[in-house]
Amino acid sequence: MFGTTTIGIDLGTANILVYNQEKGIILDEPSVVAVDTNTNDVLAFGHEAKEMMGKTPANIAIVRPMREGVIADFDVTSGLLQQIMKRINASEGSFRKPNVVVSTPSGATSVERRAISDAVQAVGAKSVVLMEEPVAAAIGADLPVSEPVANTVVDIGGGTTEIAIISYGGVVSSTSIRTGGDHIDEEIINYIRKEYNLLIGEATSERVKKELAYAPVPHAELKAEIRGRDLVTGLPETVTISSNEIQSAIEELLERVLEAIRLTLEKCPAELSGDIVDRGIVLTGGGALIQGFKEWLVERIDVPVHMAPEPLKSVAIGTGKSLDYVKMISK
Ligand SMILES: Nc1ncnc2c1ncn2[C@@H]1O[C@H](COP(=O)(O)OP(=O)(O)OP(=O)(O)O)[C@@H](O)[C@H]1O
Ligand SMILES: [Mg+2]
Repeated sequence: MFGTTTIGIDLGTANILVYNQEKGIILDEPSVVAVDTNTNDVLAFGHEAKEMMGKTPANIAIVRPMREGVIADFDVTSGLLQQIMKRINASEGSFRKPNVVVSTPSGATSVERRAISDAVQAVGAKSVVLMEEPVAAAIGADLPVSEPVANTVVDIGGGTTEIAIISYGGVVSSTSIRTGGDHIDEEIINYIRKEYNLLIGEATSERVKKELAYAPVPHAELKAEIRGRDLVTGLPETVTISSNEIQSAIEELLERVLEAIRLTLEKCPAELSGDIVDRGIVLTGGGALIQGFKEWLVERIDVPVHMAPEPLKSVAIGTGKSLDYVKMISK
């Protein structure tokens, strides 16, 4: 192990982050790839590819190779990992094979886990360790996961929501649902189509979400103009929408997340339940940044809720730091 670097990869549905034990976050890019449809070559990835979303000619496809937290397109994911390793090697000036820790959703099947492990192995890792995403999130959020107390983490990503209660280094109770920020974007697209006969793209929908989406809490109404294609005339059209409309369009989806949190808390052993009341739960993942979400949760589940210091980075930091914990726990 000595003389070899360890890197942690958060291979997320929406974002890929790489954490180096000595240097911190060394890569942070959207999980988007531009592929040449004739040759299947990866032309660009990350921000560069995301910029091209919905705007490319027929010979370039913009692909998001991970869906619902797992690999949907194995070849493109491998191509993406290759590009990432190439970039890391170039910037780090290192050609030593790294030990790699990769996060996987706790609901991933063994076939899905295998696919992730194979893809990372194939791009030249010395060893690959898979780690459940909520455990990584908890470590990355600085929770004392090795102590015998209830560490409760809710990680809302692009494709999945993972809820876990961790005590003494292990998962005591967990739930994983394939609902996340991407599904909120879809709800918004559906709403605008139904209500205004207007077709908007994923990028527009995500922007609307970040600007206007609120959990079901009272707030000062906001409005924004959005552009899309009128489904009746086929022409470009602009409409003004309000945060109240978006709020009701996404409410049912947020209720599903809440229900999963409730269920996990109910499955918690009685001895640890008291801890949750005292210590509360910690939110990680980009989906937790929906405005008013934290306040809404406090109101609905009546336990303290804290936002992780860097919610979008918790999992990556946790994967990178996890080896220290493994060593500590095994002592
Ligand atoms: N300010 C914000 N408000 C609302 N949503 C946001 C905000 N910032 C990011 N998001 C959403 O968070 C999601 C991405 O979060 P994150 O990077 O944690 O997901 P991921 O780890 O890639 O996905 P998964 O864990 O499901 O594989 C996206 O759906 C994105 O639109
Ligand atoms: Mg994630």
